[in-house]
Amino acid sequence: TTAATVLGIETSCDETAAAVVRRRADGGAEILSNVVLSQIEEHAAFGGVVPEIAARAHVEALDGIVRAALGDAGITLGAVDAVAATVGPGLVGGLLVGAMTGKAIAAARGLPFVAVNHLEGHALSPRLSDNIAYPYLLLLVSGGHSQILLVRGLGDYERWGTTIDDALGEAFDKTAKLLSLPHPGGPNVEIMAAKGDPTRFALPRPMKGEARLDFSFSGLKTALRLAAEAKAPLSDEDVADLCASFQAACAETLADRTRRALARFRERFPDIAGPVLGIAGGVGANKAIRAALAKECETAGFRLVAPPLKLCSDNGAMIAYAGLERLEAGLTDSLDAPVRSRWPL
Ligand code: KG4
Ligand code: ZN
Repeated sequence: TTAATVLGIETSCDETAAAVVRRRADGGAEILSNVVLSQIEEHAAFGGVVPEIAARAHVEALDGIVRAALGDAGITLGAVDAVAATVGPGLVGGLLVGAMTGKAIAAARGLPFVAVNHLEGHALSPRLSDNIAYPYLLLLVSGGHSQILLVRGLGDYERWGTTIDDALGEAFDKTAKLLSLPHPGGPNVEIMAAKGDPTRFALPRPMKGEARLDFSFSGLKTALRLAAEAKAPLSDEDVADLCASFQAACAETLADRTRRALARFRERFPDIAGPVLGIAGGVGANKAIRAALAKECETAGFRLVAPPLKLCSDNGAMIAYAGLERLEAGLTDSLDAPVRSRWPL
């Protein structure tokens, strides 16, 4: 298929998203539209994502979001070559809404359907944003995942490290909740951290120095809770200092894990001239974390590819793009493709 155009649908968590991506003549990919509707307000009162509310909100919003994605792209379904939808991992109710909608469009228009793994969408996003070559390293840090992946090729991944307890975004969200900051926690912790002193509270740097590339954040979370309880009632300054100290601990831990991963990549691929570390996942939006990673990459001679924030957090363009690569490789799926709450890459 040359210059294929793919409609992508993403409904695995609390974003209803659809996008259109097209292969360009120069080999790169072009995002024709990327529409994301966040359900933050629907879940705000609960301090986290409520699966049943999420599924119902996807049902209500998805048709309009797909229409908006086609409209923004300036095309109709007649110009679409395949429909891709996230079928896992994620919340099953939302996955069903996206998968059924994608399959229905594919069936009605006689188009191929591509069942996409959400993690593959994140893993390939540096190729969407910067057209980089395989293989490369990817640091995926989101609300549900903290992983270091070797991306060798399409569908060909090696997980070098993962979290043994909480995901990094989850740790940010729990920290926010503990400090009575609004949901979603990550951006609010970052805002408070900007006003705080990162050296005031001595929090642990979990896993730092360990040879294996895994993460752990629950000990850090507990240390933060104990520090907060010891200071209660907390002033605004205390909260800012706790956020800054927490964020610094996260950035330092991530930098340590990343340094080791870059060294291992060098050993494994000594002949690759311009090695790349890509970032994906919502925590990739954090400026302190980006700065820490940029420093590690500079020292190790890696290029850091940090896609625009809209491609780091959950979106339909990364799903459309993964669908495009799969379509080009002849990897389409039947309309029986199931949804899966758990689906490691
Ligand atoms: O990738 P994403 O949009 O959704 C998935 O989890 O798949 O990531 C959302 C996560 C949330 O935990 C959110 O708190 C975190 O990313 N996050 C941040 C920032 N922006 C979003 N964490 C730290 N600093 C940020 N600026
Ligand atoms: Zn995600």
